[in-house]
Amino acid sequence: MKNLTNKPAWQALCRHFNEISAAHMRDAFAKDQLRFDKFSLKNGEILLDYSRNRIDDHTLRLLIELAEDSNIKEKICDLFAGKNINTSEHRPALHVALRAGDKEPLIVNNTDVTKLVTEERERIFQFANDVICGKRVSASGKPFKHVINIGIGGSHLGPKMCTEALKDFAISDLSFHFISTIDPDLLRDVLSQIDPETSLFIISSKSFSTIETLTNARAVLTWLSDQLGSESVKKNTIAVTACRDKAVDFGISENAIFSLWDWVGGRYSIWSAIGLPLVLLIGPERFSEFLEGAHDIDNHFRTAPLSQNIPVILALLAIWYGNFFEASAHAIAPYSHRLRSLVSYIQQLEMESSGKSTTYDGERTDYSTGTVIFGEEGCNGQHSYNQLLHQGQHFIPVDFILIAKSHHHASQHQHEMLLASALSQAFALMHGTSLTDTKLNEKHFEEHRIIAGNKPCNIIMLEQLTPRNLGSLLAIYEHKIFVQCAIWNINPFDQWGVELGKQTLPIILHEIQNASGNDTIDFATAKLIDHFNKQKGKI
Ligand code: F6P
Repeated sequence: MKNLTNKPAWQALCRHFNEISAAHMRDAFAKDQLRFDKFSLKNGEILLDYSRNRIDDHTLRLLIELAEDSNIKEKICDLFAGKNINTSEHRPALHVALRAGDKEPLIVNNTDVTKLVTEERERIFQFANDVICGKRVSASGKPFKHVINIGIGGSHLGPKMCTEALKDFAISDLSFHFISTIDPDLLRDVLSQIDPETSLFIISSKSFSTIETLTNARAVLTWLSDQLGSESVKKNTIAVTACRDKAVDFGISENAIFSLWDWVGGRYSIWSAIGLPLVLLIGPERFSEFLEGAHDIDNHFRTAPLSQNIPVILALLAIWYGNFFEASAHAIAPYSHRLRSLVSYIQQLEMESSGKSTTYDGERTDYSTGTVIFGEEGCNGQHSYNQLLHQGQHFIPVDFILIAKSHHHASQHQHEMLLASALSQAFALMHGTSLTDTKLNEKHFEEHRIIAGNKPCNIIMLEQLTPRNLGSLLAIYEHKIFVQCAIWNINPFDQWGVELGKQTLPIILHEIQNASGNDTIDFATAKLIDHFNKQKGKI
């Protein structure tokens, strides 16, 4: 494949950057009252306003040409057809099949994926209904009151974020707890909040080999067994994994294991049994709406022309800023407390997908890839890092995620203030303070008060935070990062970079616990271990 930077569209964008990079969006807004109409898209109850970007019609045309040069449409077809596009792991990436409905079979590697997914989803829904209605009870015969998800990364972030986001759709009074890191304080905190007699434990691990998850699971099951006897472990624990045998060896009953498959990436797995906590919170019907919302975006992504395609536009803007404006990061600002964990979810989705520097052809990239994602729920960011966004030297685009209608009419005034906060930040980022502002001419103007503006942002507005709209939002970001990686010619679906840390952990842990003077570790680490052990009085 021709190197990205040699493509005609890329070269044209380089020239265009030199022409347009100094233009101020203030002027573009002054010149073209139709800018919002031209640079906004709507799909269902989701509106994307991308008018506050450093683009004009020509920019967009060139970016679309880059997408065409990168065969985006063909790559989208390969994704949905279940081609082995995760080449380093020789497998497809079929998270889209998890929400495709049960209408048409999808045969991949001689397996009817649709049938597989549909049957497992029926098992998940049946189990959830049984727990919610009290038919499935704990070892003590009591209905479950607490659900504890033990998992990390994609086996944690999606369930946690979605159960927070859709709390207003709860159909049960189950309480949800999440044990992810290996820090025993987290384990202690959770165990102090739950009653073992009415607790359902979900061990969520696609590989069933993640050390944090297995260590936490062993600790929890030992605690449970001490409290209620070993039988309780069987009745109060289920597993979600692609490695059923490992779960059985761990002591989980065969019929208490829910499957996902190796062609579902961890950060793309919320649509599978990994989403069980969400199914238990909102029930199968609402979870189906969540899936349908994602499926709506799948159809949009597959059929909309590139220039009308929400994930494609967001991806092209990210390429424009990352590769031409040399943006150092991208901020996500969800103006919704219910979406307070969305940034962490998108961080893994985008950074674990795009944090690569080797192309599909095995060559080192000579252009930047990956995007550093950070952010905070709205208002908090304004009183934390927004100063740098407004007056810092970094070029950091922002995605504002807004909810038009609150679920609680009583607090309408504060909801309006929340929305006004977001829009005022977007205005200030774009507009800045120009010397013509009268209030600044009345007295001696200090340079340090200049706010340059011209900082781009996207506004994504959901009509309401519903299962359907949340599903659509997450699918938009999944497909956005897919398009970025397709243009960068990198594989978004593997994560070899996390393997080295996993391999060194047991070596260093052994050194901490045995001080054997293992010389495979560097002297700085050895010194730290020595210092650590001295603090503990171990030596
Ligand atoms: O961070 C590496 C990773 O493999 C993620 O991709 C994954 O979501 C997480 O660890 C947990 O993996 P598992 O679900 O197999 O425990």
